[in-house]
Amino acid sequence: MNVVEIVFSPTGGTEKVAHIISGHWKESVVKIDLSDYKTDFAKCKIEKEDMVLIAMPSFGGRAPAVAIERLKQMTGNGAKCTLVCVYGNRAYEDTLVEMEDAAKECGFQVVAAIAAVAEHSIMPQYASNRPDESDKKQLIHFADQIAGKDGEVVSIPGNRPYKKAGGAGLVPKPTKNCVKCGMCVERCPVQAINSTGYTTDSKKCISCMRCVNQCPEKARKVNGAMVSIAALAMKKACSIRKENELFL
Ligand SMILES: Cc1cc2nc3c(=O)[nH]c(=O)nc-3n(C[C@H](O)[C@H](O)[C@H](O)COP(=O)(O)O)c2cc1C
Repeated sequence: MNVVEIVFSPTGGTEKVAHIISGHWKESVVKIDLSDYKTDFAKCKIEKEDMVLIAMPSFGGRAPAVAIERLKQMTGNGAKCTLVCVYGNRAYEDTLVEMEDAAKECGFQVVAAIAAVAEHSIMPQYASNRPDESDKKQLIHFADQIAGKDGEVVSIPGNRPYKKAGGAGLVPKPTKNCVKCGMCVERCPVQAINSTGYTTDSKKCISCMRCVNQCPEKARKVNGAMVSIAALAMKKACSIRKENELFL
């Protein structure tokens, strides 16, 4: 039996949460990276006996479309799976139900779902440094409860039809510090960055912040004024600590 982690995590928060859970189940975990556009996901093998974790961040209360599209290329073979949606302390809305529908369509047996909190990847003042020690304890407790679980998850919160998906509208740009190393071009999950001017195709960009987060020269930026306005508008919703939730 393998523990298989199928993860979309542009800036690493989702992966941190996923690994606390799957790493508790088994020391060595097989990882399938949904942010890697070079992978042929149809060829990724899942066995019925595998224990699978599917983890994605919430973007505007929805699952990232590209992550769902890549997941849907896979075949679940009836393997038990746990869904993990990771959000930045505002709300996850329809993310988990969208993930549930996609996982079932692939042929996974969904046994549990978790909504967990990690630092907001656009506004790191919200949920900063999460998952923290208290989150880790809680997630490990969830992992133990899930390990003994048999049968489908009873009810996952969210609406069908899902809320309308809307982009964050924040398109990162290179600054004068850009040394054209190519890392952002290579790592952008949706190939939105052009390899000569390092400009971003705003139609392809999903505002996931990976290029901003991973640039070794810290040479990619989004419009600071727009982020400040969004942060102010979301202050009330984001400021009070939300706890992780388990659905069995
Ligand atoms: C485009 C975008 C939209 C987001 N929308 C939400 C949201 O609706 N609710 C929320 O609580 N957090 C939201 N966040 C925060 C992320 O869900 C959170 O930071 C998550 O941990 C990011 O995952 P990653 O670190 O694996 O990339 C959003 C982040 C981005 C980049």
